[in-house]
Amino acid sequence: MKYTVFLFCVSLTIASCGGGSESQESSSNQTPQSMVQSEPAEADPMLNKGIGPITSVTLGPLDQALVDEGKVIYEELCTACHKPTEKFIGPAPAGIMSRRSPEWIMNMILNPEQMVKEDPIAKKLLVEYNMAPMANQNLTEDQARKVLEYFRTLE
Ligand code: HEC
Repeated sequence: MKYTVFLFCVSLTIASCGGGSESQESSSNQTPQSMVQSEPAEADPMLNKGIGPITSVTLGPLDQALVDEGKVIYEELCTACHKPTEKFIGPAPAGIMSRRSPEWIMNMILNPEQMVKEDPIAKKLLVEYNMAPMANQNLTEDQARKVLEYFRTLE
């Protein structure tokens, strides 16, 4: 009789143990799910518009006058740290139009301090570039738009 009661207790303990680990499993299953939810902006960088004054940019056919003015601004204010087609102190803008949204690029130019603190892509870049921060060159939105047009010509 004593033996039966003992067995009964053991099986109860096992059952409650099993139940416990099951609920642990289901709660750990929720962690990856909530991570997936925060991923889309990183999964497709083109959907990330960055943080700053620019919320929407429409690109028409290439405007050569804007390109020429943008190139002058870029050569004056950006080439201390950027080379058009080679990695330097900062990344090369060549090909940038296919890896970042136009809004993100303009926000990075106009609002780099907040971008490197809060934007997931810019935060990673800062680490990748040895914590040398992108400099705010105090461009106007108009000037940044011209530089963006120039970037469209860099493959
Ligand atoms: C003092 C150096 C410095 C200057 C000047 C500078 N940048 Fe940067 N830039 C960086 C660094 C370093 C990064 C990489 C991100 C970081 O570390 O913050 C960067 C990143 C960028 C990015 C993101 C590149 C990518 O591949 O996503 C853009 C766009 C950019 N800079 C544009 C400009 C423009 C336009 C100018 C001129 C108006 C300029 N930068 C001037 C240092 C500089």
